[in-house]
Amino acid sequence: MSDGKKVTFVTGGASGIGKAVCFELSSKGESLIIADIDESKGVDTCKEILSNGGEAIFQKVDVRKRNEIRHAADTGLKEFGKITGLVNCAGLVTMTSLDELTEEEWDLVVDVNLKGTWLTTQEVSRDIAAAGGGAVVNISTVEAEVVVSSKGYCQVHYNASKGGVKMLTKALSVELAKKSIRVNAVAPGPIATDFVSLEGITAPETLEDLKTRLLIPRVGLPEDVAKAVRFLLSEEASWITGIHLPVDGGWLTR
Ligand SMILES: NC(=O)c1ccc[n+]([C@@H]2O[C@H](COP(=O)([O-])OP(=O)(O)OC[C@H]3O[C@@H](n4cnc5c(N)ncnc54)[C@H](O)[C@@H]3O)[C@@H](O)[C@H]2O)c1
Repeated sequence: MSDGKKVTFVTGGASGIGKAVCFELSSKGESLIIADIDESKGVDTCKEILSNGGEAIFQKVDVRKRNEIRHAADTGLKEFGKITGLVNCAGLVTMTSLDELTEEEWDLVVDVNLKGTWLTTQEVSRDIAAAGGGAVVNISTVEAEVVVSSKGYCQVHYNASKGGVKMLTKALSVELAKKSIRVNAVAPGPIATDFVSLEGITAPETLEDLKTRLLIPRVGLPEDVAKAVRFLLSEEASWITGIHLPVDGGWLTR
């Protein structure tokens, strides 16, 4: 591995947006530490990258567990010698109304989306600092800015978790500036992944509904988000920190 090579730790890298981020970064010559709770999909993603000539390892990680994050980062350091970037993409939602929402669901969604972003950044930013600095990108959502009702109700636990990610991004950008680490967030609109249901989000009737909000009338692709993440991680964004960048087909514009 040459000294100038970048090594990025991607949580939620097994599928959807995180997988697209891994492919985008690999296509630019970066090495990947793919960290995800889903071992089967994570191993497959890693194999695909390796078979395309890229460099990657998979580590089974629950982002709610500090020891698993630390073990994955240490394994990545042994394999690649350094870590220069972090993408916090692991996330989930449960489609539950306020009346039906349980404490278990609240804890699951808030802990994976918000606490996991903090824990992973606390651990991995130490390694990025040791490499001389770098960048972190958190995957937020337009739902950190506006409340979207699906099935007649919003997901208060998801809104709360991602609103937290938006402010956490700002606070981390202040704390980590002194270590030459930039911290930004990307806020996707509706993206065609398995996050809720791939069939649901790509159905013609869904698009008709989305068109009432979208200025660019198509469902977003994981690659749309991945390109923005790659930009924010790169030197091209060397004077950008603390932002929450919508990648949303214009959803938040009106
Ligand atoms: N798809 C969308 O429309 C959309 C829109 C806005 C924001 N987002 C955000 O994008 C991110 C990625 O979602 P996606 O659409 O790619 O969905 P996805 O379900 O394909 O990917 C999420 C990944 O996170 C992993 N994960 C879940 N819990 C984990 C845990 N505890 N530890 C480690 N990994 C865990 C899953 O195994 C999965 O690989 C999420 O943070 C989501 O909130 C998605």
